[in-house]
Amino acid sequence: MKVLGINAIFHDPAAALVIDGETVAAGEEERFSRRKHGKRPVPFSAWELPEQAARWCLDQAGIDAADLDAVAYSFDPALARPAEEMGLRDPWDHLRLAYARTAPGFLATALPGLDPGQVCFVPHHIAHAASAGLASPHPQTDVLVLDGRGESVSHLAGRYDDGALEILASQALPHSLGLVFEDVTEHLGFLRSSDEYKVMALASYGSPRFLPELRVAIRTTGDGGFRTDPVDWSSLVKARSSGEEWTADHADLAASLQLRLEEVLLELAGWLQGRTGGDTLTLAGGVALNCVANSRLAGDGPYRRLWVQPAAGDAGTALGGALHVARSGGDLTTPMPGVDLGRGWNDDEVEAWLTTARVPYERVDDVAETVASALAANCVVAWFQGRSEYGPRALGHRSLLAHPGYADNLERLNDVKGREQFRPVAPMVLAARASAIFSRGPLPSPFMLFVHDVDPAWRDRIPAVVHVDGTARVQTVDPVDEPLVAQMLSAFERRTGLPVVVNTSLNTAGRPMVDDPRDALECFGSAPVDLLAIGPFVVRRRAF
Ligand SMILES: [Fe+2]
Repeated sequence: MKVLGINAIFHDPAAALVIDGETVAAGEEERFSRRKHGKRPVPFSAWELPEQAARWCLDQAGIDAADLDAVAYSFDPALARPAEEMGLRDPWDHLRLAYARTAPGFLATALPGLDPGQVCFVPHHIAHAASAGLASPHPQTDVLVLDGRGESVSHLAGRYDDGALEILASQALPHSLGLVFEDVTEHLGFLRSSDEYKVMALASYGSPRFLPELRVAIRTTGDGGFRTDPVDWSSLVKARSSGEEWTADHADLAASLQLRLEEVLLELAGWLQGRTGGDTLTLAGGVALNCVANSRLAGDGPYRRLWVQPAAGDAGTALGGALHVARSGGDLTTPMPGVDLGRGWNDDEVEAWLTTARVPYERVDDVAETVASALAANCVVAWFQGRSEYGPRALGHRSLLAHPGYADNLERLNDVKGREQFRPVAPMVLAARASAIFSRGPLPSPFMLFVHDVDPAWRDRIPAVVHVDGTARVQTVDPVDEPLVAQMLSAFERRTGLPVVVNTSLNTAGRPMVDDPRDALECFGSAPVDLLAIGPFVVRRRAF
């Protein structure tokens, strides 16, 4: 079967293509449209489809819309209820449902040749669950989905056995861990449905002094579900407006919420494992992007193995929806082959972009050695190699790299990216070296979805990537999976003795990650980056 997955309902519109059970392409619309998160997460935008991402998926496979056997749309309006009945205050939610019901017609317009009858609605949380259970390498696995909301629930707990999902619990709205986190994100002056990770980062600067209040308001119910009672956040901490300096009070609220989230996740995982006796848990839903909570779950939870969908937010439902429909149609689905499911260019195509831009460039013998040499000289490098990543993390395909040994490289990279100074940057490390430097979080960790403790002996050697609490969000690099990145890391280690490089996403503030070569050149041209390594070519800002 040829199945196109579409996520369009809330935010992070994305498309994915699964052919005969194999994931061949996946991309987020923001990388094409250059609008962060693709669109605003409001009911008025629910009609907007990932048109460019969907067309690219078809082009990538050399097929037309008419060739598709099914289109999986990751929201089923038949399962929704009016917002007021679900206890949600959203007077325009009916628009969202109306747009969802007419999605087959919209899709047929966006993808000429598509039969609207091929569009099937996949329940939102089943699409998330499949993005974990079916995309992971574990055919027998428990699955937990936690996000803001789907049609009428915010959570799913279940188990996959050889591709078949048994749902064991779900939590009806308005109770939602994701919506609570979004409320606090907004209260702390950040953008809801976008900046939740900033709350997690801020948490490490605070102490959880509001934990008693949150333990009352947010609690599990012993049946696999939970309650989230309304909280007057202003009674705890004065709201922060965006642009205002954050205070210790704001950090304390973030720390309290973060800790309570971790406690509740542990209780939910404990309940699920008690039902199944399973040893593996896969996670999806926006809450699963909380890498601090993931590490807590891995360390203190009941499971031996934890696998998190790298595109755990709604973008991942495009892939999950497609895998679910393919499996339901009788195809044997295979695990996702990696995160590099997006666009890529051959050397000739890259060179054509460079020629068009009329920038001085050179083809180097060994781009890994050249970049390692530049990094050892404390240059900031834009690294553009292979196909782009699916999900919010740069994992060695569209990355900004720097030397980890200089503490001020954190500030330098945050300046390049024009973002808040409390935001950490992350280390990429050769997988074989990781356990000597990082502990507590699970290793290997190829998708940067957990935090680890940095060994005290290493903290002074790689200060740029050590967070204020002594942790780091690690990406381990295996030479089999990522040969070029591993070569670069090895070459850097030969020069510096450090098997670690600073890695952050290749973009500037408020913009999506770089995706095509022109984006890379624009980013390089507008930010103080010393070297652009794009395919086998390099562009230097200055001689070094
Ligand atoms: Fe979701």
